[in-house]
Amino acid sequence: MSSQICRSVASRAARSILSAYSKQSSRSISGGRAAAAAATVSLRGVVPSLAAYGREESANASRAWISGLFALPAAAYMLQEQEACAAEMERTFIAIKPDGVQRGLIAEIISRFERKGFKLVGIKILVPSKDFAQKHYHDLKERPFFNGLCDFLSSGPVIGMVWEGEGVIKYGRKLIGATDPQKSEPGTIRGDLAVVVGRNIIHGSDGPETAKDEIALWFKPEELVNYTNNAEKWIYGDN
Ligand code: RTP
Ligand code: MG
Repeated sequence: MSSQICRSVASRAARSILSAYSKQSSRSISGGRAAAAAATVSLRGVVPSLAAYGREESANASRAWISGLFALPAAAYMLQEQEACAAEMERTFIAIKPDGVQRGLIAEIISRFERKGFKLVGIKILVPSKDFAQKHYHDLKERPFFNGLCDFLSSGPVIGMVWEGEGVIKYGRKLIGATDPQKSEPGTIRGDLAVVVGRNIIHGSDGPETAKDEIALWFKPEELVNYTNNAEKWIYGDN
C-alpha cells in the first residue's frame, strides 16, 4: 500500500463512480456515459489523468465509456486503499497522571505527541476511583507497589487520551521514555520532566492488546472522534 492517508474526497469520488456503475440496468453506451460523467466530475482534482478523458464525452460517447472503464478499477483501488488504511491506523491510550497535571505539564505532553504528527482522537479529565485505578493497573496486582500506585492514580485529576497514528503504540512509548526517569533518555518525556519512578507523570499502553483494553476501559466508542487532519497529507506519504 502506497499511503496511509484516508482521503475523504477520494472516497466520495470512488463511491460515486461505483454507484454510477451499479445503477446501470444494462451495459449500454448511455449508461457508460453516465458513469463516465460521474467519474469525470468526481475525479476532477483527484486523478487528473483520468478526469481528462471525460472532457470529450459529450462529443464522443464511446470514448466516455472507455474513460469509465478506466475509472472503475481506479475507484475500486481507492476504496480498497482507504479501507486498508482505516484498518491499519493504530490507536493508543495515554494518561497524564496526577503529578503531571498538578505540575502544569498537560500542554507540554500533548504538544510532544502533536508535534510528532500523531492525532488526538479522544481526551477527558477525571479523578479515577481506586477501583478504576485497580482495573487499569490489574496486570500489576501482584507487585508490592500496586496498592500505592492505585492510591496515587486515584489521588487527583488525570488526563485520559487516545492518540492515533502509524506505529503510535510503540513510538508513544519511545516519546514517554523508560519507566524509571533515572534511566529515561534525555529528550523523552520522563527523561526531561520527571525524576523518580513513583512520580513519572505519564502512562502509555505497552502493546496492541493493552491499548485496545485500556481505550475500552477509559472511553465509550462515541467519545472517540474520527476525522481527517489537514496536516496528514504532509505527515504521511511515499516517494
Ligand atoms: P505505565 O504503565 O504507567 O505507562 O508505566 P510502565 O509501563 O513504564 O511501567 P509498569 O511496569 O507498567 O509500571 C506501572 C507504573 O508503576 C509505577 N512503578 N513503581 N518500583 C516501583 O516503585 C515502581 N515500578 C513501577 C510507575 O509509576 C509505573 O509507571
Ligand atoms: Mg505499564
